[in-house]
Amino acid sequence: MRLLAVTVSIGAALLVMTAAPSYAAGGDAIFKKSCTGCHYTDGPAKEKTIADQLAKKGPELWYAGSKFQKDWLAAWLQNPKPIRPLKYNSLTDKNPGDHPKLSAGDAAAVTDFLMGLKSPEVKAGVIKPNESAQARNIFGKKAPCGGCHEYPVKGEVHGGKSGPSLVGASKRLNPDWVYAYLTNIKAFKPVRGMPDFASVLNKKDLASVAAYVAAFE
Ligand code: HEC
Ligand code: HEC
Repeated sequence: MRLLAVTVSIGAALLVMTAAPSYAAGGDAIFKKSCTGCHYTDGPAKEKTIADQLAKKGPELWYAGSKFQKDWLAAWLQNPKPIRPLKYNSLTDKNPGDHPKLSAGDAAAVTDFLMGLKSPEVKAGVIKPNESAQARNIFGKKAPCGGCHEYPVKGEVHGGKSGPSLVGASKRLNPDWVYAYLTNIKAFKPVRGMPDFASVLNKKDLASVAAYVAAFE
């Protein structure tokens, strides 16, 4: 009887240990201290309004582990270059490019913490980066995505400035997240500046345009 109780409590302890997210010690504490003032790490989007979004000075990070590529994230946190041409939530002011910087050690710990924040809406291994004429037409003319997003054309930057730049998306974004975002945008954030394309383009077109974005150098 006593032996059984011991086994049960060891079992429970193991369960608690394995259930804990596997990020390096400290990343969550650094985040709480230096980052929560400007970023949400709790989701999902249906629990938030546009007013909630505007209450934070930076974008949602509750699905960061599904959205970003790990190497890009660790490097960007040490040397953050502007992603949005304009200041976050502004259509007139230039991005001041003043994001806080982390040391290499802190960036690695925070990256481990953020990469643990996943959204179940993102299915892995669906989209392979690929440039097709069909997607180029959707991106440049039909949608047109390029009216609001910067994108690369033979080493030059083209496109509009109201959305985040998609230059370098091949290194920054997870292709499967791009597809999930285009097909089910409301699962990630209350819809505002980015149109909901799920009822405008069919799934095949959305997959090809996601693959196209995911190939941007
Ligand atoms: C004063 C507010 C502020 C603080 C503090 C802050 N951020 Fe940010 N963060 C922003 C803004 C604004 C952006 C958008 C920057 C851009 O588009 O260039 C951003 C962008 C990001 C991004 C890219 C998100 C995306 O969707 O493009 C990550 C990752 C990030 N921050 C992580 C952090 C971490 C980690 C910390 C703490 C060390 C932190 N931030 C602290 C305001 C802040
Ligand atoms: C009317 C302007 C507009 C159009 C057209 C538009 N977007 Fe966007 N897009 C935005 C804005 C604004 C955001 C940022 C939304 C937010 O963070 O709330 C965004 C966000 C994104 C993101 C996420 C980028 C990031 O780093 O967070 C991707 C990917 C994207 N758009 C791809 C596309 C594609 C592909 C198309 C065409 C099928 C498209 N967009 C058309 C304005 C636009």
